[in-house]
Amino acid sequence: MFPGVAVITGAGGTAKAFATAGCERIAITDLNEESLQKTAETITSTHPKTHLLVKAGNVADDRFADSFINAVVQQFGRVDYAVNCAGVLGKPMRSAETTLEEFDRVNNVNYRGCWLSSRAELRQMASQSELPSHDPNRPGQRGSVVNVASQLGIVSRPGAPAYCASKSAVIGMTRADAIDYSQDGIRVNCVCPGVIETPLIMEKPEVRAAITPAVEIAPMKRMGQPAEVADAILFLCSTQASFVQGHAMVVDGGYVTV
Ligand SMILES: NC(=O)c1ccc[n+]([C@@H]2O[C@H](COP(=O)([O-])OP(=O)(O)OC[C@H]3O[C@@H](n4cnc5c(N)ncnc54)[C@H](O)[C@@H]3O)[C@@H](O)[C@H]2O)c1
Repeated sequence: MFPGVAVITGAGGTAKAFATAGCERIAITDLNEESLQKTAETITSTHPKTHLLVKAGNVADDRFADSFINAVVQQFGRVDYAVNCAGVLGKPMRSAETTLEEFDRVNNVNYRGCWLSSRAELRQMASQSELPSHDPNRPGQRGSVVNVASQLGIVSRPGAPAYCASKSAVIGMTRADAIDYSQDGIRVNCVCPGVIETPLIMEKPEVRAAITPAVEIAPMKRMGQPAEVADAILFLCSTQASFVQGHAMVVDGGYVTV
């Protein structure tokens, strides 16, 4: 199902999901070397056929974002599926209390880092040959980018102006890139997760407490699992989504419908 090369920033569950789905060439990066190595070890032990490129770094650094994709192309020759997951949460503050440092910290990773990563990925995808389709009803594709935004890019919640803005920016950028790269055979979509049970949420008791009301508001009244978001990402990357372009796919237990 995934004959090409996958690239994942902010690696974790999504990288494992690509390996489980049969992708055999995967490049992963994350700022946190320890969690990156853990992800690599899990993939290597559960999917020994997978060829992995593992490179720690900061996606908000333009030189790193470019050098990571250069390293992927040097090792694997191309980039077919690119998932930009790297992200941070904002501190709970209204705009008047938010410092410039806090605004920049959040936007530098969530928006600028996502843009820098997708810029490097799109440059490569636009320059490479199409991966042929084996389905006569679907064209081949040069690449598919999935950016990870948030339900908070669509609706807001108290005390999160920098985070909400950073995720709205990702949705806007996704739509603009979808328009610009359609004629290059590249699809660009994003997922907007609701509250998902990941380290970002679970590691700090104060964060868990702060998101409880959001879980209660959502019609399904539970946290999502990383696999539920990864499945949406896999779908958007796959040829099954060959006519899905510029879409912000909400995976949130119904939160934004209320
Ligand atoms: N967990 C949720 O409830 C939730 C909800 C909506 C959106 N999201 C988004 O999903 C994405 C993945 O988050 P997650 O929940 O898996 O959290 P997570 O903390 O497990 O994953 C985020 C990863 O990004 C990495 N990262 C942070 N800054 C980086 C940088 N400058 N360069 C490279 N890597 C960096 C972190 O080390 C971490 O491994 C994020 O963009 C987040 O905003 C999460």
